Amino acid sequence: MSVNATIIEPWTATLSQLEWPSNSRLLLLALINIPLFSIVLNVLWQLLPRDKSQPPLVWHWIPVLGSAPAYGRDPVAFFRECREKYGNVFSFILLGRRVTVTLGPQGNDFVLGGKHTQLAAEDVYSPLTTPIFGKDVVYDCPNEKLMEQKRFVKVSLTIEKFRAYVGMIEDEVKDYLNSDPAFRVWQMNDINEWGSFNVLKTFSEITILTASRTLQGREIRESLTKDYAQVYSDLDHGFTPLHWMVPGLPLPSYRRRDAAHAKMSSFYQSILRNRREHPEQNQEDDVMSSLMKQRYRDGTSIPDHEIAHILIALLMAGQHTSSSSLAWTMLHLADRPDIQEALYKEQIQHFGTPDGGLRDVTYDEIRELKVLDAVVRETLRMHPPIHSIMRKAHTDIPVPATLGTPSEDKVFVVPKGDIVLASPLISQLDPTVWENSETWEPARWYDEKGVAAQANRAYDEGQKVDFGFGLVSKGTISPYLPFGAGRHRCIGEQFAYLQISTVILALIRRMEFRLEGEFPQPDYSSMMVQPMPCKIHYRRRKFD
Ligand code: HEM
Repeated sequence: MSVNATIIEPWTATLSQLEWPSNSRLLLLALINIPLFSIVLNVLWQLLPRDKSQPPLVWHWIPVLGSAPAYGRDPVAFFRECREKYGNVFSFILLGRRVTVTLGPQGNDFVLGGKHTQLAAEDVYSPLTTPIFGKDVVYDCPNEKLMEQKRFVKVSLTIEKFRAYVGMIEDEVKDYLNSDPAFRVWQMNDINEWGSFNVLKTFSEITILTASRTLQGREIRESLTKDYAQVYSDLDHGFTPLHWMVPGLPLPSYRRRDAAHAKMSSFYQSILRNRREHPEQNQEDDVMSSLMKQRYRDGTSIPDHEIAHILIALLMAGQHTSSSSLAWTMLHLADRPDIQEALYKEQIQHFGTPDGGLRDVTYDEIRELKVLDAVVRETLRMHPPIHSIMRKAHTDIPVPATLGTPSEDKVFVVPKGDIVLASPLISQLDPTVWENSETWEPARWYDEKGVAAQANRAYDEGQKVDFGFGLVSKGTISPYLPFGAGRHRCIGEQFAYLQISTVILALIRRMEFRLEGEFPQPDYSSMMVQPMPCKIHYRRRKFD
């Protein structure tokens, strides 16, 4: 029996028996029949013989919406299920757009190592980022200009600066613990009582405080406690899948986002003017001062609005990524007292003083802490904050045959206009690559010959290439790519490692942590994967 006979006809018969004014009845019939008709058409369209050169399309009932609910609810489960059914290359409909997914290390390479003339990031990301970051930077400018802007930032993030940042981050964490109400038990100096804190709130606040103190500069840090906090929050609320997928809706959150961007941009530009007008009072050595001195290749200096927008972009790019990584790291540590103890012992071994205390740490010393390094790497393996990396295909592109399972010699053509998507998260959790892939086990990073070390070498060693912002590894074939690869590779990697490591060092030397309740599930509903709302218990260490 057809869908029409089982669903549509009984409905229309029932409705036609009701007494409606004729216009309303027609309207109601149309409202019910048009969607049903489009579902039927969509089903029939999927049953038609398909162009075999195109990747298989994931089955979906509702046109336009497509597989959005399954992908949005749990992209990992969705990708795994599709991989089982269709292999490493498949397409799905996401709110009217066709997205072609290429999984596995080769799939990552296809997307991340693609030529810019064929695969463009700006076409996909700009509707989300331009209203937040602002005009003429990142994805609102030609790719060559972005490469130059990345170079400007990279040269501002020197080892010298990192050395100075360690003390600043440590101070911020200390001040936070001494003032935030969630750490009242810590403030009471009682070593027997346990307190608890809200994980997402705490690490989001610590991240913005430490990033502003270091990267953003004195003026921004000082204004964080005042109206800037609300402006930041309004801007941040524009960083959601809805604002990305449906730009320009006439909703309050869109208006607040735009107003917040305008305010923030003019705030940064007023700082720039002040610094230029009073060079004697402003001897800051931060990213802003470095950007003020740099020039594009054609000799032009960076206009003030671009400096402002680059700084906003850095703030946003580093906020959710670092805060979610910190949150996951601390949750795993709270769940594994043995690793907490190993981290604490590592600190005693390196920084212990004769009177039983711990001295300050330096940037160069942090780099030598093997347990800490493994803890951060392992967290980024299981919880890279970005689960989907996307580009838009500007031409028809053949997908290398090795990706096409089950038949190895098959070549698919990704049609021009498709969005292509890689998910390094899937390779980072692949049980055929990683032993006990779903278990957080920092020890896997100690084995120099193990899979983790090999993946890391494939990520960072070998031939290098310069896309305009310094040398990065040429190869993008690795099952471990938490910071992406190729021309869009992250420039905040070293800073993020430093920030996350220093915060963890500061916390572990002061307190013990335990998990409250079940280990939280990932929340995929926001732009970055973060844990569902949860709490961690803490207690002051005996020898602080
Ligand atoms: C790019 C991850 C922290 C700035 C990326 C990409 C990834 C990533 C996966 C590639 C995106 C793509 O190819 O589409 C991370 C993670 C972080 C982190 C896991 C922390 C744990 C930061 C920080 C900053 C930053 C702290 C700024 C200081 C950037 C920038 C790009 C980028 C500017 C380049 C975008 C492009 O070229 O298209 N990051 N990031 N990130 N990240 Fe990060």
